[in-house]
Amino acid sequence: MPDNIPINGRTVFAGVVGWPVSHSLSPAIHNRWMQENSINAVYLPLPVEPENLPSVIPALSSMGCVGVNLTIPHKEQVLPLLDHVDDVAKRIGACNTVVMKEGKLHGHNTDAYGFWKSLEQGAPALKRDKALVLGAGGAARAVITALHDAGYSEIRIMNRTYEKAQALCALSSQARAVLWGSGIDDVDLLVNTTSLGMKGQPPLEMDLSPLPSHAVVTDIVYNPLHTPLLLLAKQQGLTVVDGLGMLLYQAQKAFELWFGVTPRVDETLRKTVLEQLGQ
Ligand code: ATR
Repeated sequence: MPDNIPINGRTVFAGVVGWPVSHSLSPAIHNRWMQENSINAVYLPLPVEPENLPSVIPALSSMGCVGVNLTIPHKEQVLPLLDHVDDVAKRIGACNTVVMKEGKLHGHNTDAYGFWKSLEQGAPALKRDKALVLGAGGAARAVITALHDAGYSEIRIMNRTYEKAQALCALSSQARAVLWGSGIDDVDLLVNTTSLGMKGQPPLEMDLSPLPSHAVVTDIVYNPLHTPLLLLAKQQGLTVVDGLGMLLYQAQKAFELWFGVTPRVDETLRKTVLEQLGQ
């Protein structure tokens, strides 16, 4: 990595807007990439209470901010504040990246890209036919959109609250809601988007033995990296893809949108992020 770029009169900034935001790993990732690519910029955590979002976003734009990421609870609330929202963000109904350019605010959603890129990298032989998505929250919306765009012929959505799974079927002509515990015997891909398995949460308990031997299992949870679901899948000899890749690749796309440079995602970066997580 080159020597630190000094902050001077030409330094620009980006950041992550959230409430709370202190847990965010994005500053560590983006500041590292700025150094690696000799970009005179800094990336800051920006704690913003929900009621202040409508005044903060235009203000950031008017003071030369390059762009921001949005995290909980702002991904949906930011949409009406933007001048332009791209097709993927519109379909998902959430924006995680804003590009600020010539006084205009451009909204994107790089979560779907990040999810798919991570899966392609981690499981290149993955079959794009039948997928099962567990959960029906915000993360599931991005995952279902990515799977639709990747050409899956069947996207089953399984959720504790069945009605929410039904509502998400509007995202894809290929999607249908299924009852918890049913229909896993012929899927090529199983994705956990629930919070189960996350540090401090109960594990996701599911019998994976009916899954075909070529099935890929992935979890969007990355803390811990090896969730009980992934450990069980691995024990069964299935291909697994952990959740860290989605975090890194959604960030990579955001960085690309702001600076026109594709930053490196490699083992060293993964290690740095895992260290931040205490793993
Ligand atoms: P996110 O935006 O990260 O997706 P979310 O919108 O709060 O978070 O969604 C959390 C998901 O985890 C939901 O699908 C939720 O199921 P419900 O829709 O029934 O609430 C799921 N989830 C959370 N705790 C769960 C539990 N104990 N058992 C099963 N599913 C659970």
